Amino acid sequence: MSSEVIKQLQEAVQFSPENVPLRLHLAQVLLQDFQYQQAEEQYRKVLELSHDNIPAQLGLARTFYHQTKYSVAIVVLEQLEHQDPDNFDALLLHCRILVRENSMEAARDMYQHLLALNPGFRDEALDGYFRMPQQQSAPSLDDEEEEVEKIFTLEKPEINFGDVGGMEREKQEIDLKIIKPLQFPDLYKAYGKKAGGGILLYGPPGCGKTYLARATAGQIQAEFINVGIHDVLDMWIGNSEKNLHSLFELARQSKPCVLFFDEVDALGANRSSMRNSGASHLINQFLSEMDGIAANNDNVLIIGATNAPWSLDPAFRRPGRFDRIVFVAPPDQESREEVLRIQLRNKPVEAIDYRAIAKATAGYSGADLKAIVDLAIEDKLMEALQKGIPQPITQKDLMKATKTHRATTREWFNTARNYALYSNEAGLYDDVLKYLDIKK
Ligand SMILES: Nc1ncnc2c1ncn2[C@@H]1O[C@H](COP(=O)(O)OP(=O)(O)OP(=O)(O)O)[C@@H](O)[C@H]1O
Ligand SMILES: [Mg+2]
Repeated sequence: MSSEVIKQLQEAVQFSPENVPLRLHLAQVLLQDFQYQQAEEQYRKVLELSHDNIPAQLGLARTFYHQTKYSVAIVVLEQLEHQDPDNFDALLLHCRILVRENSMEAARDMYQHLLALNPGFRDEALDGYFRMPQQQSAPSLDDEEEEVEKIFTLEKPEINFGDVGGMEREKQEIDLKIIKPLQFPDLYKAYGKKAGGGILLYGPPGCGKTYLARATAGQIQAEFINVGIHDVLDMWIGNSEKNLHSLFELARQSKPCVLFFDEVDALGANRSSMRNSGASHLINQFLSEMDGIAANNDNVLIIGATNAPWSLDPAFRRPGRFDRIVFVAPPDQESREEVLRIQLRNKPVEAIDYRAIAKATAGYSGADLKAIVDLAIEDKLMEALQKGIPQPITQKDLMKATKTHRATTREWFNTARNYALYSNEAGLYDDVLKYLDIKK
């Protein structure tokens, strides 16, 4: 949704403030655009002008729902249902809220009512509760939090920035955007800089996104929670929203904490197809949890990673969400040297010309370099087993391994180049162009 449309509608509404359909439209657009508070305000104004307006009541309830103000949402819905007892959308929303509030019996009755109104209706989440072959009641939130804790382990990473070769630009971005605000909150406040928001790391596979996120936690001795979005989607089809909430709660309780979302594009991809399946609620939930962190962000740092930033819905990049996006490039010559040194640290090596190997491995990712070292070590191990004498790793072994293992980043750049050239809005992919040495 473009902010331009919203602006125009706002102007139109200012011009004819009593125009109910117009204001209603503005409210709807704001709601779709996740601007719940503004939407709420507009719906309220519509209701001032037109008391019994059903779409406005429903819309208002929705804005409450998304702001997790469940009890007010229910008040509005009950009034609506009084006027229009078989309003399907209202009942469905009401049912979802009851589930959230753990009022399972009332929710079940309402679900049955929904099915009576529309026998073909299916909702994965609600089905999960009420249609399972062996009926089980929903777990209470406490159980769930335990469940979440079992699945997402808190870890205290041993590595820090010192273990990350090169990546000076990336480290600096992280430092300025999330570490410094944590260390000097008052200073940031004094300059009117709001802390909060997250960093989104993107780039070809194996170039250290996950590794850097983990090292960030280690750098500030924070807890680290590694969340694969696919896990969230797979594991809890039907119950993901609640689990997502518990996950953010877990992070808030474990401060300081780096909450790392891997494959974050899985959430933002195909939003229109997800909307039908009911998973769009999961997206909304994710965004509002993130906004919640922004509002009360003390000591929870959010880092996301993706190989496909172009699949991510722009709503994710709004201020307070992933508002800094950082390209994680394959390591340059110097960084490759450093990565190799780090990988070979504490291993038996002969004098090695790191520069020469780094030169021979342009375009290799950190993971590729690790693969080379592993290959060389395996070779040496075999040799040592055969000869019975351990041998140090040599330059020759490593060079030989570079011939066997080739860079794996090329394919990614083939795709990224197209996005960078043809849909580079707001210079989002300028760093990719720079890396590829393409002039704009
Ligand atoms: N700068 C670096 N310094 C040291 N090791 C590195 C560096 N970059 C990558 N590595 C090594 O490469 C491995 C793979 O990196 P990582 O898993 O972080 O890549 P990624 O960008 O998250 O990849 P993917 O997109 O596939 O998830 C790391 O576990 C680490 O051992
Ligand atoms: Mg990764």
